[in-house]
Amino acid sequence: MDQVERARDLTRLLLAESIPRRWTHSQGVGRKAESIANLVGNDASALVSAAWLHDVGYAPDLVVTGMHQLDGARYLRDVANADDLVCRLVANHSCAFIEARHRRLLDELAGEFPPVEGLLSDALTYADMTTSPDGEPVEVHGRLAEILARYGAGDLVAESIREASPLIIGSVQRVSALVTGA
Ligand SMILES: [Fe+2]
Repeated sequence: MDQVERARDLTRLLLAESIPRRWTHSQGVGRKAESIANLVGNDASALVSAAWLHDVGYAPDLVVTGMHQLDGARYLRDVANADDLVCRLVANHSCAFIEARHRRLLDELAGEFPPVEGLLSDALTYADMTTSPDGEPVEVHGRLAEILARYGAGDLVAESIREASPLIIGSVQRVSALVTGA
């Protein structure tokens, strides 16, 4: 079984029954990543695997710190023996460093999972931030507005996303330009 198949099966196992909407979202993000995987060359398999797995840290059994990016990455590293690059992508997806700073977990996040730079990081952010909670394609501004509304003003996740918005939009725009050939 290849890396992507394993990632998809593990995500289904962790999310499909316990939090089915996250499973639906993850399927959309995995499909979106597959559609742009040609942009990242040899890292295609890591990108698509991380896209499937990016939200497994929401699984109730995996919650330790409450920061889903870090909890998910630690599970993948310590229990699932996932590829190092996949763990780093999951840990840092969609500007996680900002939420980590708000949670006073930035030293742990950055120390355990060094950030992934460049197009590979942009591509995962693009896949996540152009996919709705129900797994449908969505425009990034609508996606960000939905997150802010869902968590509510003052919530730590909402404030982190608000702060990250310019960076997220930049990532989406860079990948969109490559996708459309603009
Ligand atoms: Fe997501």
